[in-house]
Amino acid sequence: MSTLLHIDASVHSAKNANPNHDSISKNIAKKFVNHLQQNNAIAEYIYRDVGMNPPSFINQSWVGAVFTPANKLTLEQKEVLAESDELINELVKADTIVISTPMYNYGMPAQLKAWFDQIVRINKTFDFDLQRGDFPLQPLLTGKRLLVITSTGEFGFEAGGIRESMSHLVPHIKTLSKYLGAEHIDEIACEYQEFNDQRHQRSLTNAYAKAEQLALRYAN
Ligand SMILES: Cc1cc2nc3c(=O)[nH]c(=O)nc-3n(C[C@H](O)[C@H](O)[C@H](O)COP(=O)(O)O)c2cc1C
Repeated sequence: MSTLLHIDASVHSAKNANPNHDSISKNIAKKFVNHLQQNNAIAEYIYRDVGMNPPSFINQSWVGAVFTPANKLTLEQKEVLAESDELINELVKADTIVISTPMYNYGMPAQLKAWFDQIVRINKTFDFDLQRGDFPLQPLLTGKRLLVITSTGEFGFEAGGIRESMSHLVPHIKTLSKYLGAEHIDEIACEYQEFNDQRHQRSLTNAYAKAEQLALRYAN
């Protein structure tokens, strides 16, 4: 039984009056989570739709507060950090993380970046020591598995693909995943949405099939 943190990042809802507007990434994630729930594999389910309810952007007060020792924080600084504390607590509790996200302008939506900015925090999810030489940052969380579900209008963002050099979504999430404590990463990618052709249909079918397969694996 797992504690699952599910982050959706599309600005579109999963279901809309016009189904052409339904979020692909959210629906694939929903399929995965539904399967886990049907297999009674989720002990606690924590859900955030950051596309619809974006976390606050960090600012100068936030940076000032995170570099203030915990016992010196003013009441005002504690308030500045309250949202970050809550998001980090959700992350710490989880052993499994699902992030579903569209590609916007070749990277992650600003709303998802805002979530990462709130949780990648000194002495909470990483610590810093110049004694470590050229890589002074060290992640503090461990032992989690991460499923990244993406939807893109174009295609060929994988290693060796025709748009590999424009691929700033999954590589960015993978770079940050160590601060989530992710030690195992799975990916589901749905491509070709803007082409609306057979390739898109195939990609969608494969993505849903992979969501089912992975749910079986994650349930055991
Ligand atoms: C603002 C915006 C920017 C986008 N930028 C890209 C892009 O850079 N590359 C791409 O392949 N698709 C891009 N798309 C297409 C989306 O990635 C595609 O529609 C995807 O299915 C959206 O995910 P969702 O269906 O879960 O909302 C963009 C769409 C929007 C609305």
